[in-house]
Amino acid sequence: MKVIIENIHKRFCVGIQETIALEDINFTIDEKEFVVLVGPSGCGKSTILNMVGGLLSPTSGKIYVEGLRVDRDPSIGIVFQEVGLFPWQTVHENIAFGLETIGLSKREQVERVQYYTELVGLTNFSHSFPHQLSGGMRQRVGIARALAIQPDILLMDEPFSALDAQSRTLMQEELLRIWDQNQLSTLYVTHNIQEAVYLADRVIVLSRRPGRISSIIKIDLPKFGRDDSKYITQFNNYAEEIWQMIRKDAQEALQEGDQ
Ligand SMILES: Nc1ncnc2c1ncn2[C@@H]1O[C@H](COP(=O)(O)OP(=O)(O)O)[C@@H](O)[C@H]1O
Ligand SMILES: [Mg+2]
Repeated sequence: MKVIIENIHKRFCVGIQETIALEDINFTIDEKEFVVLVGPSGCGKSTILNMVGGLLSPTSGKIYVEGLRVDRDPSIGIVFQEVGLFPWQTVHENIAFGLETIGLSKREQVERVQYYTELVGLTNFSHSFPHQLSGGMRQRVGIARALAIQPDILLMDEPFSALDAQSRTLMQEELLRIWDQNQLSTLYVTHNIQEAVYLADRVIVLSRRPGRISSIIKIDLPKFGRDDSKYITQFNNYAEEIWQMIRKDAQEALQEGDQ
């Protein structure tokens, strides 16, 4: 299944203040493709992700899918930066959220939750509550919850940005391992260039004010082990190419104090 994002423009109006957030956004997420949107704060990454997820509508343009084998809207799994677990529910209950709505029996729900709990390596924590888990573990719960509905598309908005550098690196590896099991068409948002080069089949670089696509870069490296020393030159070349594109924008974002 393929997602097509066609001629998207997005304008926000707050009172008399009008912000043109996005202009002329065109790209596709191909079947089983991992697309990463990268750009400085405020360039419209989350806005694009939320539009693909149906949480926001574009001012003009359209987003649609091709090749869905069943006659229904695509189902979408989303992982946000703030994972938003229910603090009063266990890991198991949090992952089960949404499974009743898609019509699974109690028994199917338990099996489904067990499968995804194991996939993210939390079987021993299924009766723990969110406050008993590390930040990385909470994000794994969020990923398991998004995958458990077996979505057609996976959307992730800076899921690891609240983690320390070591946990982030480990979670990136972990995400590739998990992703490989399902190979969902994925849109992943980050402002971290290393993360983009590490994860992406293609990186979409956005410029800011208004957000436009500056470049779409295919990362021609094997999907796994890109941090291996034998790829270090190519890896750094990609990272440098992207950094040169967003450097000026990032400086401006910093000066304007965007979060
Ligand atoms: N709900 C909203 N109302 C008004 N302006 C918004 C809203 N959401 C985002 N914006 C503006 O749109 C631009 C893009 O925001 P966003 O998509 O959150 O950027 P990013 O995720 O890349 O940091 C910013 O200028 C932001 O202030
Ligand atoms: Mg954002």
